[in-house]
Amino acid sequence: MAAGTGKTGAGENRTIPRHVAVIMDGNGRWAKKRGLPRTAGHAAGSENFRKIATYCKNIGMDYLTVYAFSTENWKRPPEEVGTIMRLLRRYLNEAVETMERDRIRMKVFGNVEALPEELRLLVAKTDEISSRYQGFQANICLNYGGRDEIVSAARRYARDLAAGVAPAELTEDLFSGYLYSAGIPDPELIIRTGGEQRISNFLLWQCAYSEFYYTDTYWPDFGPEELDRAIEAFNARDRRFGGIK
Ligand code: FPP
Repeated sequence: MAAGTGKTGAGENRTIPRHVAVIMDGNGRWAKKRGLPRTAGHAAGSENFRKIATYCKNIGMDYLTVYAFSTENWKRPPEEVGTIMRLLRRYLNEAVETMERDRIRMKVFGNVEALPEELRLLVAKTDEISSRYQGFQANICLNYGGRDEIVSAARRYARDLAAGVAPAELTEDLFSGYLYSAGIPDPELIIRTGGEQRISNFLLWQCAYSEFYYTDTYWPDFGPEELDRAIEAFNARDRRFGGIK
């Protein structure tokens, strides 16, 4: 099915985008508003990711991609980086147990080599489990940067060039195959929570024709009803892909 045509949920006449991507912003401010440490915001954010991923699967979406940790997030205080890594470890550990039961596929997009060893092993395990199933897939961007993704794809392509591939054979489709998102349709809808309206180095190649939805809601408060509103807004958009109607 072509990107943008999506599926229609049972008994509904809205189009569910095949692929939705989310910049989960506002965890820190959510915690501050409640007089809690920022790390409590990340814990609430992880729980919300679980809730939203389950909802996406249930409404018939194919892919959900979330920005969990960017190549720039290493600049945060070490305690905060440590908490996010611990949450990811816990989440991936639990995911390994539940993926088999729920037949959920999960991929990590990002420079995995630079992650702590325990996380790297968990990523390898979730990859292995995912290869056995078809159906809903959650992609977690971890140590991810859009420019870094394009540069590492170019590096791998350059290796193939050196091995004899002809430059004239390079097409957009072929180059896409070198990205972390190889084989996955581009996101039709990108949501950013937390009030900012910028892309922050997220899916720079893949967002070429994405629709954007911004909300002031902090990520831990972004529930299924607000995702429904974002999908409703997406349904009202006139997507022309550079053409005319
Ligand atoms: C942005 O909020 C959020 C992050 C940089 C980290 C997101 C991480 C998680 C939700 C935890 C682990 C994820 C998964 C998939 C289990 P912010 O800290 O920039 O918030 P602020 O703008 O209010 O300070």
